[in-house]
Amino acid sequence: MVIKSIENELKQLDQNLQTMIAAENPILYSAAEQLFHAGGKRIRPTILLMIAKLVDDNNRISTEQKRLAEITEIIHTASLVHDDIIDNCDTRRGVNSVHAIFNNKIAVLAGDFLFAQSSWYLANLNNLNVVKTISKIITDFAEGEVQQGLRLFDNSISIEEYIEKSFYKTASLIACSCKATIMLTIDNRNTQNDFYLYGKHIGLAFQIVDDILDIIGVSENLGKIAGLDLKNGNLTAPLIFALSVKNELYKLINQEFQFTQDTKKAVDLIKQTNSIQKAKDLAEEHIQLAIHIIKDKYNYKDNSEILSICYNITNRIN
Ligand code: IPE
Ligand code: IPE
Ligand code: MG
Ligand code: MG
Repeated sequence: MVIKSIENELKQLDQNLQTMIAAENPILYSAAEQLFHAGGKRIRPTILLMIAKLVDDNNRISTEQKRLAEITEIIHTASLVHDDIIDNCDTRRGVNSVHAIFNNKIAVLAGDFLFAQSSWYLANLNNLNVVKTISKIITDFAEGEVQQGLRLFDNSISIEEYIEKSFYKTASLIACSCKATIMLTIDNRNTQNDFYLYGKHIGLAFQIVDDILDIIGVSENLGKIAGLDLKNGNLTAPLIFALSVKNELYKLINQEFQFTQDTKKAVDLIKQTNSIQKAKDLAEEHIQLAIHIIKDKYNYKDNSEILSICYNITNRIN
């Protein structure tokens, strides 16, 4: 999706990222650079640049806000490098993941390096409150991944627990970076908190959609391997909803999808229920809560592009 009004800023962001992730060691550089080179949707910087523009009377985005969008994309990419090791995912953004090209040790270090670089640029913003807000993201990412890891193949997981984990793993990054973007130009706690909530709901919807696509999507379109959540025992919204109607799913989970056809059987069972639709409705509810802040609570002018970003999150599911 091309957002015309920030096209130039996104080009500049791509260029700046190349220098921000430069490492002296050629192996570390090449490992760290692997995923940036491959692109990605850049949804986080797109949202941050859009909201920065939206709230400014003259539609200007400050230098610090642009830098924060870059920092956020670096944190996100670092988390993907580590997440792919955890999830055993060999393809990312349509190319080989870092651990698949190099090895787990290099990928751990490349992720660490990216987190460290992001911290350096964050500190250089010279804004202690922004540092406090953004550094929490990395703690939350670890919390979310650990919560998920402790509940693999656990069929007693509730939808509330799933949402809590998704907040830590994914929504915290969007929530905190939206809040920090606003903190850089608006000194009003209520507005800052509203944008935190905006980002939180967008983030939750985004993860729910990602989880639906993992079940019904195709690897070639996703640029990463579909179906890994079930295989790894990561029980997500569609499956949690389907469990109450399809008892057969318990058996497949308890035997940890060990037989070749088990994950396919589970997907077929899920598809026989309305669980995909229920999960999509849940994502839609969060999108509506986010839209409410932009459209009804503040009614920003020229809000059509940011609203279309919101709508497009659930539109990824056909
Ligand atoms: C993937 O994020 C990880 C999740 C939080 C679901 P994206 O789908 O935004 O990945 P890229 O940046 O476009 O590759
Ligand atoms: C998001 O969860 C993980 C991160 C926050 C990095 P997923 O494990 O679902 O992300 P994908 O599907 O691998 O992109
Ligand atoms: Mg993953
Ligand atoms: Mg996923």
